[in-house]
Amino acid sequence: MEIVKSITLLDDVLNAFRKKGKTIGLVPTMGALHEGHAALVKRCVVENDIAAVSVFVNPTQFNNPEDLRLYPRTLDADCALLEKLGVDVVFAPDVDEMYPEPDTRVFDFGMLDKVMEGRFRPGHFNGVAQIVSKLFYAVKPDKAYFGEKDFQQLAIIREMVKQLQIPVEIIAVPIVREQSGLALSSRNMRLTPQQRETASEIFKTLEMSADLIEKQSVEDVKKFVVNRINNHDALSVEYFEIVDGETLQAIFDWTDSQYIVGCIAVFCGEVRLIDNIRYK
Ligand code: PAJ
Repeated sequence: MEIVKSITLLDDVLNAFRKKGKTIGLVPTMGALHEGHAALVKRCVVENDIAAVSVFVNPTQFNNPEDLRLYPRTLDADCALLEKLGVDVVFAPDVDEMYPEPDTRVFDFGMLDKVMEGRFRPGHFNGVAQIVSKLFYAVKPDKAYFGEKDFQQLAIIREMVKQLQIPVEIIAVPIVREQSGLALSSRNMRLTPQQRETASEIFKTLEMSADLIEKQSVEDVKKFVVNRINNHDALSVEYFEIVDGETLQAIFDWTDSQYIVGCIAVFCGEVRLIDNIRYK
């Protein structure tokens, strides 16, 4: 496994593979890797000749400087895991390598980034688009893997690739969960054992709500989810939206769309957790 820190070196390594006609898959990450990331990496290894993983904590997508400062950085452990998973190339640049000058690009994602995460984390998806486009330009992957846990991020990436006409296939990977149902996240490390247990109520509630669809109104299902989660002292819902899975716009009736997803953000103490469930 090669660990490279510069775009020039990355180009040398990947061009050698490309000349031999090898296909390249990319998994973009911010490190602090867990089994959720591993699911993406395993698919990337199986579906491509060469598997590349980027590890880069991207400053432009953090709207909270404290969150950026506290983000776990565990490159040695990450590389040990990636080596075991059969990864060929790790791209771990520093900030100056990716941003030799400030990236002033402003993307227009229409309504896609006006809702949910985009609404509560202004500028976040513009930063995500900046770094992921730079990673695509640097790696030029045939396929790139993203988790459904960050459901809105996936929609943004698909839209960005369309707008910039980047020839890459975007592959969505299902959410990996703890046995309790809690979606794996690097932020779970910051939960106390007690909070972790309570946080599992988030997905339990989403699952319960799936049994109510088309029996109760959209509005009532939303109320059920928000009330049941907020009933736990340790949990506080920031938003819960029931949306069309492509446009991410709220639906008001179960017949409004063929593809419906419930997306939620919840504070558990100081830790902000997101999750989602596909209703139909
Ligand atoms: P990060 O949070 O490190 O996540 C990297 C990828 O792993 C994302 O596509 C995310 O959706 C996926 N992932 C995380 N937890 C998961 C889980 N429990 N199940 C399935 N997939 C999971 O997302 C980012 O980094 C950044 O925004 C990035 C795209 C790298 C741009 O900086």
